[in-house]
Amino acid sequence: MSDEQAGTVLRAPAEEAFAEELAALERVDDRVRPGSWRLSPWAVATYLLGGTLADGTVVTPKYVGPRRLVEVAVATLATDRALLLLGVPGTAKTWVSEHLAAAISGDSTLLVQGTAGTGEEAVRYGWNYARLLAEGPSRAALVPSPVLRAMAAGQLVRVEELTRIPPDVQDALITVLSEKALPIPELGGQTQAVRGFNLIATANDRDRGVNELSSALRRRFTTVVLPLPATLDQEVEIVARRVGQLGRALELPELPGGAQEIRRVVTVFRELREGVTADGRTKVRTPTGTLSTAEAISVVTHGLALAAHFGDGVLRARDLAAGVLGAVVRDQVADRAVWREYREGVLRERADWRDFYRAACEFD
Ligand SMILES: Nc1ncnc2c1ncn2[C@@H]1O[C@H](COP(=O)(O)OP(=O)(O)O)[C@@H](O)[C@H]1O
Ligand SMILES: [Mg+2]
Repeated sequence: MSDEQAGTVLRAPAEEAFAEELAALERVDDRVRPGSWRLSPWAVATYLLGGTLADGTVVTPKYVGPRRLVEVAVATLATDRALLLLGVPGTAKTWVSEHLAAAISGDSTLLVQGTAGTGEEAVRYGWNYARLLAEGPSRAALVPSPVLRAMAAGQLVRVEELTRIPPDVQDALITVLSEKALPIPELGGQTQAVRGFNLIATANDRDRGVNELSSALRRRFTTVVLPLPATLDQEVEIVARRVGQLGRALELPELPGGAQEIRRVVTVFRELREGVTADGRTKVRTPTGTLSTAEAISVVTHGLALAAHFGDGVLRARDLAAGVLGAVVRDQVADRAVWREYREGVLRERADWRDFYRAACEFD
């Protein structure tokens, strides 16, 4: 069934969603492209960070943050070392890895989702048992993993949540990354990686210790730590941009009030995360949840849906209050106390936040 028959897909991969920008970059890009890269490292970095091209095409920023981090990430992928994106949840590790794969390989869909149950066949290969029984081991009976397919095609493969993968399966990756080849004893041969092959892994800071990466595996990676947005303005920009994109995908109208409410949600998240109010005057207690940028995006998008379908045409504090409360209060006892203290001690004191304060009380 084609996409047209099936209706509009809910979420197109980056290489489709941003096909026009990528094509424009390909046209103007006259720098050297490593291996089978679709773009030069310069053009990949421009795709991620945004910019205006010589022909006037505006490339939207995908990642908002230090330019140097993106340059290190892209340069790493052009060497024989793999890339590990590390950070707390919601710092755009998955997002950046998808866009890197889209810009470099034109395909971000070669993906291994790391869990405690990820087996060797997700990293090496499996078998189509019907064919295996009928014909014996053959290329046709072999089911390649995303890693094997990326090796054969000279593309990037993504491994999400690397540290959650059991150690023996992680070990299978060491051979791939050091030998650039995957033995297939059943067929008496091996698949060798084509130039352009590399691997981007993501891992969560907070998972450290669950399955600490072996030093042998860690040595194969250059680690880039993605930070939380440095300033309120940066974080507001990230949330506003992403909410705009998601809202359009969900066919939600743009509502007045959006900019102000986004700023307030981000302010609340940052103050609780950092343990101090934006003016630096009042200490606040920190709840157990992460209150990530990604969560702010989801709270605002949800609020927008409420306002669009059940509101009066303006995004209001009461459309966001339940979402904010849900993000802050993870632990029913401890977090609720933290939230009430913040609400009474900080929100209540802000003259221009009356509606927000009232909505916060209403939903608690
Ligand atoms: N610095 C940033 N620049 C651009 N988008 C960001 C940034 N931080 C977070 N986001 C947004 O937050 C969402 C979260 O990201 P995700 O990649 O799932 O996080 P992670 O994998 O680190 O947990 C994405 O929609 C992304 O657009
Ligand atoms: Mg992720």
